[in-house]
Amino acid sequence: MASLLFAQAHAAEEGPALLKSKCVGCHIPEGNDSFSRISHQRKTPEGWLMSIARMQVMHGLQISDDDRRTLVKYLADKQGLAPSETDGVRYAMERRLNTVEQFDDQLSQMCGRCHSGARVALQRRPAKEWEHLVNFHLGQWPSLEYQAQSRDRDWLELALKDVVPDLAKRFPLENQAWADWQKDRPKADALPGQWSFSGHMLTKGDVRGVMTVTADAGDTFKLDVKGQYADGTPFSGSGSAILYNGYEWRGNVKVGETNMRQVFAALNGEMKGRMFEAEHDERGLDFSAAKAGGAKLLAVQPAHIKAGTQAELTLVGSGLSGAPDFGPGVEVVKVLEATPNLVRVQVKATADAAPGVRGVALGELKGVDLAVYKDIAEVKVVPEFSIARVGENGGSTPKVQGRFEAEAWGKGADGKPYRIGYLPAKWSVEPFDERAKEDEDVKFAGVMNADGVFVPGLAGPNPERKMMTNNAGNLKVIAELEEGGHKGEGHLIVTVQRWNNPPIP
Ligand code: HEC
Ligand code: HEC
Repeated sequence: MASLLFAQAHAAEEGPALLKSKCVGCHIPEGNDSFSRISHQRKTPEGWLMSIARMQVMHGLQISDDDRRTLVKYLADKQGLAPSETDGVRYAMERRLNTVEQFDDQLSQMCGRCHSGARVALQRRPAKEWEHLVNFHLGQWPSLEYQAQSRDRDWLELALKDVVPDLAKRFPLENQAWADWQKDRPKADALPGQWSFSGHMLTKGDVRGVMTVTADAGDTFKLDVKGQYADGTPFSGSGSAILYNGYEWRGNVKVGETNMRQVFAALNGEMKGRMFEAEHDERGLDFSAAKAGGAKLLAVQPAHIKAGTQAELTLVGSGLSGAPDFGPGVEVVKVLEATPNLVRVQVKATADAAPGVRGVALGELKGVDLAVYKDIAEVKVVPEFSIARVGENGGSTPKVQGRFEAEAWGKGADGKPYRIGYLPAKWSVEPFDERAKEDEDVKFAGVMNADGVFVPGLAGPNPERKMMTNNAGNLKVIAELEEGGHKGEGHLIVTVQRWNNPPIP
């Protein structure tokens, strides 16, 4: 690990020489450390890793893992994306694989049928380079045009005539955002220090704590995480991280026995993103952190209270001070603990406290909301749509689980729905349609546990199933709230392993 980070820390000096020694055989030098193709695109660290890995797999490039990491660091710094250019598509880097993408029809149908649309939206190129990319697709997969799903149109003609000009306009190599970012890009030395963090892991609950960041060589860091889940389970460990392009934070932390990855945007004294298990990226938490030195309210945990009840609420942030104020009808009974990172209070919501979402204040600090509810109007299963995958059974691919929570919604005095938050529920699955019922998907596709974790079945053909098919299934996920018995419904597809699992889906 030490040598790995050492190599990356010297990327700025070593990058140009590596490009010259490793890439020049096939990419033409254009002077000024520029090379054909390579110097005319911008992308994320993951994007650069995928391009270079493809050079190895498809074109026989010979490069050590260390040199490849150095080049990824060099290129991601020199030809990366500005923060505003990754806004809204970070889910792909964060490996939120259940995301249902929202792109226009053309991009979805022409480019989003083999991989995510985000893979496209996370790149910047001039028209010529988008054109090369289209040609590379057809050259590499000549059958693309008449493969399933592509037979419906003249793909190449449409791609060159319509998609390329559109992409060149939407995702150009040069723009103001990137020019500004290169000028103002913050230095890595703004990051060492104490970071108070808040998060939520589906089926496990809220988590909070402090991450201590220590400077290492170049843009690399050592990390120490000390925290706990709301139920008291520790969330602590140590690791390392690297900063690409002034804000793309990538960390590796061993929490207990589990290796976890961090994919954050580190901007303006905050880190935001997702932290997930390396081997099971479906197990992850939404993460936000604020640096000591500033004052910021990150979260209130839990962010809901029922009218007429008492509860313990925890405010999480940095530089916390002052009196907590939860608005009319929610009284502070007692402050149980107050540190700069955390304020724990016992509160009481009166029976007539107005239902709805209200701002919480701590002294001068604002920015987080508390939902007060009386009645529950609706329950949603989160995620509403998801994919689990069979695995194991002698194969090397682990099962991909489904993880669900029940999100309660109320109706405000204005008749508008408002989010209450996650509440405890009983979980079950049912066949999604007639076909699923006939094929007994509920019996074969896997088991829904009491905590909302769905564990899919084993990989491979199942002799007990009709036609010896595998343990795929099409299921409804049913949540029944413990409080009030409201029911919500989600959709879960259980399917085969993902054989090809690139960093950007
Ligand atoms: C053995 C030849 C060879 C070597 C060595 C090689 N490349 Fe390539 N590279 C290609 C070819 C051929 C293409 C065009 C087809 C494609 O995109 O795969 C290409 C395309 C690319 C592209 C454009 C991909 C795109 O999506 O448009 C990038 C970026 C790239 N190479 C980076 C590199 C880097 C960085 C190195 C050195 C570490 C390198 N290549 C070394 C043959 C090579
Ligand atoms: C037939 C399936 C298919 C379709 C359709 C498709 N792609 Fe791809 N695309 C691939 C595959 C496979 C790769 C290579 C993945 C790898 O390197 O592991 C790829 C790679 C890419 C990359 C990464 C290249 C790099 O090295 O940086 C981009 C960007 C991309 N595609 C954009 C597009 C765009 C834009 C379209 C629509 C015009 C499109 N794709 C349509 C299969 C497809």
